[in-house]
Parts: sequence; C-alpha cells; structure tokens
Amino acid sequence: MRHILYRYFIFCSVVLCVTFCSISAFSQDDTYLKVDAFGELERPVSAFDHDEHNDKAALEDCSVCHHVYEDGKLVEGESSEDQACADCHTLKAQGSQPGLMMAYHQQCKSCHIESKNGPVACGECHVKK
Ligand code: HEC
Ligand code: HEC
Ligand code: HEC
Ligand code: HEC
Repeated sequence: MRHILYRYFIFCSVVLCVTFCSISAFSQDDTYLKVDAFGELERPVSAFDHDEHNDKAALEDCSVCHHVYEDGKLVEGESSEDQACADCHTLKAQGSQPGLMMAYHQQCKSCHIESKNGPVACGECHVKK
C-alpha cells in the first residue's frame, strides 16, 4: 500500500512540474517577439513585455515601432502592427534596410539612448533565466 502511495506522489509531482513549466513557457509570450527567423538562438530572448513596456514608456503612436516605408520614405501615421519585423526584415540587410538583428537593436537601443531611459547593455535585455 505504501508503495502505491509513493508512486502516486511521484506521479503528482511530475504532473505539477509539467504544468508549471508550460505556464512559464506561456508567460514568455508577453514579449510578442517573433524569434523563429533566427533559427537557433545565441542569447536568451530579450525582455520586452509589449503592453507594460509601452505603458511605462508612454508610447501611444504604434507606428513609432510598427513603421511603413514607401520608396525608402517613412509613411507618417501608417502602422504595420499586423506584421512581424521578420516579414520585411530578412536576416541579411537589403540596401538601407537593416537585417533582422540590426533592426531590433537599432530600434530598441536608439530610443533608450535618446530618452536616457531603458537598457542598452546586452545582459539587461538578454537576461539569463
Ligand atoms: C534594448 C534591448 C537589447 C539590447 C541592449 C541588446 N539586444 Fe540583442 N536583441 C534584442 C532583441 C529584441 C532581439 C530580437 C529578439 C531576440 O532574439 O531576443 C535581439 C536579438 C539578438 C541576437 C539574435 C538572436 C540570437 O539570440 O541569436 C543576438 C545574437 C543578440 N541580440 C546579441 C546581442 C548582444 C551581443 C548585445 C550587446 C552588444 C545585445 N544583443 C544587446 C534586444 C537587445
Ligand atoms: C516600442 C515599440 C513598439 C510600440 C510602440 C508598439 N509595438 Fe507592437 N510590437 C513591437 C514589437 C517589437 C513586436 C514583436 C514583433 C516581432 O518580433 O516581429 C510587436 C508586436 C505586436 C503585435 C503582434 C502580436 C502577435 O503576437 O502577433 C501587435 C498586434 C502589436 N504589436 C500591436 C501594437 C499596437 C496596436 C501598438 C500601438 C498601440 C503597438 N503595437 C505599439 C513593438 C512595439
Ligand atoms: C512592412 C515592412 C516593414 C516592417 C513590418 C518593419 N519594417 Fe523596419 N524597415 C522597413 C523598410 C523598407 C526599411 C528601410 C527604409 C530605408 O530604406 O531606409 C526599414 C527600416 C528599419 C530601420 C532603420 C531605419 C529606422 O527607421 O530606424 C529599423 C531600425 C527598423 N526598420 C526596425 C524594425 C523593427 C524593429 C520592426 C518590427 C517592430 C520593423 N522594422 C518592421 C520595413 C519594415
Ligand atoms: C520609442 C522609444 C522606445 C523604443 C523604440 C523601445 N523602448 Fe524600451 N524603453 C523605453 C523607455 C522610455 C523605457 C523606460 C520606461 C520606464 O521604466 O520609465 C524603456 C524600458 C525598457 C526596458 C526595461 C523594463 C521595462 O519594460 O520598462 C526593457 C527591457 C526595454 N525597454 C526593452 C525594449 C526592447 C526589447 C525594445 C525593442 C523591441 C524597446 N525597448 C524599444 C523606450 C523605448
């Protein structure tokens, strides 16, 4: 009898473990970041809780990040929020259009530097879990 209870205990622990692991995997989706195009990642996915970030930074204009260009010119007020960065930015740069990693780095860091707020060091964004 004791033996069976022990096994039941182990079984429950495993179930709990799996549940917690998948919950924490889901919560990573708060970042919205679409990293599939990179293949195997060199760094942990960057911290970026989309809604919380934009609230704190008081960013109301979506097109600040979700931009639209036409013939190399920024189209004011038009947003590409329904598209991933990787839909336009390939891994390699195309002319003046930066490659995917550069696109993120340039957009994220330039604003943090300009506003003297927000992380600029590798480990502050790519936080080890
Ligand atoms: C302001 C935040 C920020 C900082 C600072 C930053 N990164 Fe990133 N980085 C990102 C984001 C966002 C992406 C794209 C999504 C992802 O992979 O996290 C990215 C992608 C990458 C990638 C491609 C994906 C991968 O893991 O293979 C590498 C490599 C990388 N960063 C390395 C660095 C290094 C090295 C530094 C410091 C010199 C750095 N990053 C600083 C935000 C940042
Ligand atoms: C600070 C930059 C920034 C601002 C401002 C911003 N976003 Fe985003 N948003 C991102 C990034 C980065 C992603 C991830 C895209 C990627 O990795 O391809 C994203 C993703 C999204 C997605 C895709 C979510 C998904 O899972 O498919 C939607 C929808 C979106 N944003 C809507 C908005 C709207 C609406 C606004 C304005 C109210 C807004 N965003 C403002 C940076 C921003
Ligand atoms: C609908 C297509 C499209 C989407 C989606 C898109 N971009 Fe771009 N982006 C472009 C084009 C085209 C250029 C090049 C403009 C030029 O030739 O100078 C560009 C230029 C840039 C530049 C350099 C000029 C600048 O504005 O600072 C950065 C950085 C950048 N993109 C980051 C991003 C990030 C980060 C995302 C996702 C949140 C994103 N882009 C989504 C089309 C897109
Ligand atoms: C247009 C300006 C702007 C852009 C673009 C931007 N940020 Fe920020 N970010 C800020 C500001 C401002 C803060 C400081 C907010 C505060 O805490 O007061 C910040 C803070 C952060 C923080 C600290 C924690 C938090 O959520 O407050 C992280 C992480 C971060 N940004 C990641 C990113 C990444 C990754 C990108 C690119 C995908 C990005 N940011 C693009 C303005 C920006």
